[in-house]
Amino acid sequence: MAPTATEAKPFNKDYHGFEPFKLTNPFPSYAALREEAPVMWDDRIGMYVITRYDDVKGVFEDWETFSSKDAQSPIRPLGAAAKKVLADGEFTTYSGLSARIPPEHTRIRAVATKAFTPRRYKVLEPYIRDNADALIDAMVAKGTNSGNILTDFAYDLPTITIFALIGVPHDMIDLVKEWAVSRAALTWGDLTDDEQVPHARNMVAYWNFCQKLVADAKVTPGDNLVTDLVNLQAAGEEISDHEIASFLYSLLFAGHETTTTLISNAVRQLLIHREAWEQISADPAKIPGAVEEVLRTAGSIVAWRRTAEKDGVVGGVNIPQGSKLLLVMGAANRDGSQFADPDKFDIARENARNNLSFGFGIHYCIGNMLGKLQTRVALEQLTKKLPGLHITNGEDIEFGDNLSFRVPLAVPVTW
Ligand code: HEM
Repeated sequence: MAPTATEAKPFNKDYHGFEPFKLTNPFPSYAALREEAPVMWDDRIGMYVITRYDDVKGVFEDWETFSSKDAQSPIRPLGAAAKKVLADGEFTTYSGLSARIPPEHTRIRAVATKAFTPRRYKVLEPYIRDNADALIDAMVAKGTNSGNILTDFAYDLPTITIFALIGVPHDMIDLVKEWAVSRAALTWGDLTDDEQVPHARNMVAYWNFCQKLVADAKVTPGDNLVTDLVNLQAAGEEISDHEIASFLYSLLFAGHETTTTLISNAVRQLLIHREAWEQISADPAKIPGAVEEVLRTAGSIVAWRRTAEKDGVVGGVNIPQGSKLLLVMGAANRDGSQFADPDKFDIARENARNNLSFGFGIHYCIGNMLGKLQTRVALEQLTKKLPGLHITNGEDIEFGDNLSFRVPLAVPVTW
C-alpha cells in the first residue's frame, strides 16, 4: 500500500543552516536536514532538498517518476545576451547521456558502453602511471619541497587520460579545462547575465570542437573512442553524428573535472587522517577501499537534480508533477541508517562502496571505473614517490561556490 503522504515540512527560517551554493563545510547542515527536514522545500532554489540515503537512492532508482531531463539545464536561467551567443553559434547539444531519458538514453548508452570497454582501461593503466610519475617529478623538480596537488598534479592527470582515450591532442589541455570551467559555471553556478556571456562563447567553441572530432575521425581514423563510435555507427548501430559529438561533449567535461576533484579530495582526506596515509603507504592493497571512503565522505559531486514527471512521494512527502528535486548525495553518504559512525573516515569500512557519489540506477556513472582507476594509480605513485607528503592546514581548505561540484580551491602540500 502506498504510504500516506504529508506535506513537506515548512523550512525553518535559516533552512537548518543549509546554503545550497556554499560547499566548504556543508556537513553540519546536511546532518540537521537529515534529522529535522529530510524532504525540505527550499524557496531560494525552487527545489525539494532530499538528504536521507533511502530517499536519495529511491529517487535515482525511479527514473519514470523522477526524470533527469533537466539535470544539465542552467540553475539560473540564461540571460538574453548569453542565449543570443549560443543561438548565433548554433549551439544545439544539451547532453551526451545524463539528461537524456529512455528510450533515447537506453539506445545511446548501449552504443557508448560498447566503446567504453575494460580493454581500453587496461591499455590506459601504464600510461596513467607514467603520467603520474612525470607530474610528480616535475613538481619535485621545482625544488621548493612544496606544491599544490590540485594544480601541480590532479589538474592534468585525468585530462591527459581522457584525451588519450578520446583522441584529442595534448596541446588542447588548457583550452578544454577552460571550457570545462565555463560549463560548470554556466550550468551549476550563480552568475549574473553579463558574467554568463564569455562562458557562452566558450560553449560554442567547445561544441564546434566536439563536432569536428567526429568529422575528423571519419577522414582520419585512430585507435581511440571517437573512431570506435564512428565504426559502430558504420556497422549499423543507431547513433547519429550529433549524438556522438554530444557524448564527447559530455566526456570532455565529466571525464576529467570530477576526477581532478576526486584525486585532490583523496590526497586531502588521507593526509588529514595521517594514519590512513601511513596505512596505504605501507600496504597499497588498501588503496581501493580508501578511494571508496573518499567517495563517500568527500565526493566530487555532492548534489544532483531530478524533475518530477508525474506526482510522486518521497519520504512520505507529496511531490507534485513538475517539481524540481535536489538529491544531496553528500548528505545521504553520511546517513547513520546506512553507515555506522558516518562522520568517521575509515578506509577499512566494509560498505563504503554503497556510497551514492556516482548516482544510482540507469544513469549510474559510465566512467566510474576510469575515475577510480586513476585515483588508485595516483595514490599508488604518490605514496611510493613521496611517502613523507604533508598537508598544510588541510582542515581550513575552502571549496568553491557551486550547487553540485565540491571543488577545493587548493590542496597545499610539503614533503
Ligand atoms: C571520478 C569521479 C566521478 C564522479 C564523482 C562522477 C559522478 C557522476 C554522477 C553523479 C553522474 C550522474 C548520475 C545520475 O544522473 O544518476 C554521472 C554520470 C555520468 N558520468 Fe560520471 N563521475 C565521475 C567520473 C566520470 C568519468 C571519468 C567519466 C568518463 C570518462 C564520466 C562520465 C559520465 C557520463 C557519460 C555520465 C552520464 C551517464 C548516463 O546518464 O547514463 N564520469 N557521473
